Amino acid sequence: MTRIASGSTRRGFITSALALAAATRLSRAAAAAPLAVPEVDTLVLQVLVDNATFGPFLSNFERPGLKVEYGSGRPAPRMSARALTGEFGLSVLARSQLASQSRSVMVDFGYSPEVLANNLALLGIDTSELNAAVLSHGHLDHYGGFPAVFGDHVPAKHLPLIVGGEETFCERVAFIGSPPPVMGALDRTALAKAGLDVQINAEPMLVADHAFTTGRIPLESFERAAIPTQMRPGVGCDAAALSASKRDAKQLADDGEHELATCYAVKGAGLVVIASCSHRGVLNSVKRAQAVSGIQKVHAVVGGFHLVKPRTEDEARRTVAEFTKIDPTYIVPMHCTGEVFIAEALRVMPEKIVRPYVGTRLTFAAPTGARPA
Ligand SMILES: [Fe+2]
Repeated sequence: MTRIASGSTRRGFITSALALAAATRLSRAAAAAPLAVPEVDTLVLQVLVDNATFGPFLSNFERPGLKVEYGSGRPAPRMSARALTGEFGLSVLARSQLASQSRSVMVDFGYSPEVLANNLALLGIDTSELNAAVLSHGHLDHYGGFPAVFGDHVPAKHLPLIVGGEETFCERVAFIGSPPPVMGALDRTALAKAGLDVQINAEPMLVADHAFTTGRIPLESFERAAIPTQMRPGVGCDAAALSASKRDAKQLADDGEHELATCYAVKGAGLVVIASCSHRGVLNSVKRAQAVSGIQKVHAVVGGFHLVKPRTEDEARRTVAEFTKIDPTYIVPMHCTGEVFIAEALRVMPEKIVRPYVGTRLTFAAPTGARPA
């Protein structure tokens, strides 16, 4: 399994480390930026739910501004009979540090409570550490696991859950078969019962002091809102709270208007964009994060880029080409990204590509030097 550039050289890493280290202060177009975004010292992303797991055979490694750890970091006297589980869903835990201040944010909840609960337990994560959660959009593979966040131990004070619009709660129909199966709807009452307190915000906002959401993502690149679901206004959601052009429809194509990316600015490194499912386009998501923060340097783009149906293989390859212009230091494809993008990205810019699995920890910080594996 290829994890990173097989052809990368020590000299290449040193060069990129020096270039990154020179950017000790992120340049900003502060006057134009709508949000004053803090710069965290470190950001650790841990994969809680994704498609794939891997045994204990991958070596941890470091690159400039990035540490990748494949083990759980929890040595035990006896191997567990249980194992980390993969499924077609996404959940990421983001832990950040700014001076002495620590923050913890869960981004999405995976597909099923059983998998999220299993993986949280095996990774030793106590969800009482969470300060907030973000749900990127109202699809089952991102919200389905939410009952597992606190299990039977609902906290006295509910956890803030940021979503991008009322559309999050509309019933969906998935155009993945004939007849198209009903995906269902996110249940507000069940969310409250599970200890989550919904906040709807279509504008960019700070989350738990350290993170920020993009708010609504404009379609500003060649990318289109190609989404394999339709939504039913008024079923599960309040039709009157939807956009005027949608509220009277019985069923209409999703356009991802409510979808959010969750982002961080890492001091001396740049933006880390967690794109989740990228139904508005991963490039559009990154551009929006740049516009919101006023920070142009992109350290990493992480998540599902949805370069599978209804998007085409040509669109996947074109996205790789466009990424070379944005020039993020790292690209971490997950979930719904698809093999065409991954193969093309490994061909064009192998040094940038990192492959995570369930349990993988990615630590982002300002580069301090080159430490090739
Ligand atoms: Fe998804």
